[in-house]
Amino acid sequence: MSRKRTAILISGRGSNMEALIEAAHAPDFPAEIVLVLSNRADAGGLAKAKAAGIPTQVIPHKGLARADFDAQIDEALRAARVEIVCEAGFMRIHSAGFARAWAGRLINIHPSLLPAFKGVHVHAQALEAGVKISGCTAHFIVPELDSGPIIAQAAVPVLPDDTAETLAARILEQEHRIYPEALRMVAEGKVKLVDGKAVFGD
Ligand code: GRF
Repeated sequence: MSRKRTAILISGRGSNMEALIEAAHAPDFPAEIVLVLSNRADAGGLAKAKAAGIPTQVIPHKGLARADFDAQIDEALRAARVEIVCEAGFMRIHSAGFARAWAGRLINIHPSLLPAFKGVHVHAQALEAGVKISGCTAHFIVPELDSGPIIAQAAVPVLPDDTAETLAARILEQEHRIYPEALRMVAEGKVKLVDGKAVFGD
């Protein structure tokens, strides 16, 4: 089995990154993590990636136009012969060109049941809306923010005394479960992006 060379893009603490790294330790996992890239030198996840023996790289976005920043990311990914890119708390929006170039090989985890509650302050949005169920979504990235075809979702209850923090923690546990499964499916070709839709099957 050839394992798909996978990069993880982070901006912060990198707990989803850790879940992916952990899953990829299994000998039968169809992807290997070959690079962790961050736009922030102070991202907590970088030290965790290094401790796991994974090459890291920082590409600061400051002062760069979106397309120029993406061009540097693209170059780093190609240099590492990356085949699949997982965004895990990566707080930059891509240029349409980058999203198109990596279409079908670029995935993200989002802490709501999309298409509900896109963007930031997602848990506060869910509490404000009064939903009784929330969750997380692993999806292909397309140029429109948080709008890509859905690969996997998990639901959790929203409890009466939830704060954004308690809800986030409950959802995060599920993120750590479904994101590695989503990567597995993409790496095995069990889900593909076809004509803007996620198509499942062998
Ligand atoms: C996660 O909730 C993820 O869904 C969202 O940002 C958060 C990142 O957390 N996109 P971590 O860095 O993976 O711990």
